[in-house]
Amino acid sequence: MAENYASFNIRWLLMDSAVRMKALVLSGGKGTRLRPLTFTCAKQLIPVANKPILGYVLDQVAATGIKEVGVIIASETGNYVKEYVKDGSEWHFNVTYIPQEPLGLAHAVKTAQPFLAQDSFIMCLGDNVTGQGLKTFIQRFQKEHLDALIILKEVDDPSNFGIAQLDDKGNIVRLVEKPKTPMGNLAIIGTYLFSSKIHQAIERIKPSWRGELEITDAIQEMINLGFTVKAEILDSWWLDTGKKDDILSANAKILDEYIEREVKGKVTNSSIEGRVKIDSEAKILNSTIRGPCVIGKNTLVQNSFVGPYSSIGDNSQILNSNLEYCVILENVVINDVEHLQDSLIGKNAKVMKNQKNRTIRLHIGDYSEVEV
Ligand code: TTP
Repeated sequence: MAENYASFNIRWLLMDSAVRMKALVLSGGKGTRLRPLTFTCAKQLIPVANKPILGYVLDQVAATGIKEVGVIIASETGNYVKEYVKDGSEWHFNVTYIPQEPLGLAHAVKTAQPFLAQDSFIMCLGDNVTGQGLKTFIQRFQKEHLDALIILKEVDDPSNFGIAQLDDKGNIVRLVEKPKTPMGNLAIIGTYLFSSKIHQAIERIKPSWRGELEITDAIQEMINLGFTVKAEILDSWWLDTGKKDDILSANAKILDEYIEREVKGKVTNSSIEGRVKIDSEAKILNSTIRGPCVIGKNTLVQNSFVGPYSSIGDNSQILNSNLEYCVILENVVINDVEHLQDSLIGKNAKVMKNQKNRTIRLHIGDYSEVEV
């Protein structure tokens, strides 16, 4: 009886502090590597499987039961983020928007300090998705009374990441941003749990060579100050969607993991193969659709082949074309294109065959990339 009561109390305490913990979701930044899409959209809102990446991150935050969420936004794209997240009621949490100049991840934490106050918090990047929920990290962070818990993942190319070196007890000994000489393959993935001691560390660091307050420097400072900084290695997949090819990989992964067959639109004289999701009011005419893939609302696919790992946004038209492994946003027209592959096409774009001659005629925005 006494034991039951004690364990009930511990459970109650854990639940209570889980509720009191806050979340900080970083949806600012410059997004230079995803131009031109980021001229008219926040990079965290680029859809994979027809849902903004940020939506997957917020789903995971909501599943922890956290009720106070700070969302970092940048001046150029903040309004797009606000339009999508609104007051957070879709996720059953309260949102506080925190405008920030993109001066680094630790700068984002510093800017959020009035919101965070003395509370512990979980920090997630709004453009990183993983296949694992956040609850177990929070439980460990609270049970072991940690000052920081940093989530890591093995990578093949450590020189492109912030890398952590661990001792045999799993403590982080050292962090190096994009190491030139090998020091392990455990990359920092963009999910962090911090106690309020992170603020002391941030006060002591200086901007790096790129002019940013780096979160790796702040964590290193926590280690130097003798705070308890532990690491956990992610069991599942992790995708950072900072560049075009990363968006395509994330799209493929999410389609693979989550898409079930569901045909709501009208299908005429066509073959729908495998796990294909066709939204309402879409029309598929004289075509083959091979899953996993999604076709948005009110989209027309006619005399075409839409192959695996493709997501086609709402109100688009795919006509007399073949495509696979593509992410196509809303209001796009693809007409008479023999084979489109590995492509990311922004809103309201048109890709058409030149009917008259073999000359390539382009009308493309700043920072676009075309391979011909
Ligand atoms: P990054 O992808 O490292 O930076 P960035 O958005 O400036 O992109 P690019 O290098 O293409 O110009 O940022 C990771 C995440 O953190 C991303 O969701 C944006 C967010 N972020 C902020 O909110 N504030 C910041 O100061 C920085 C640097 C990033």
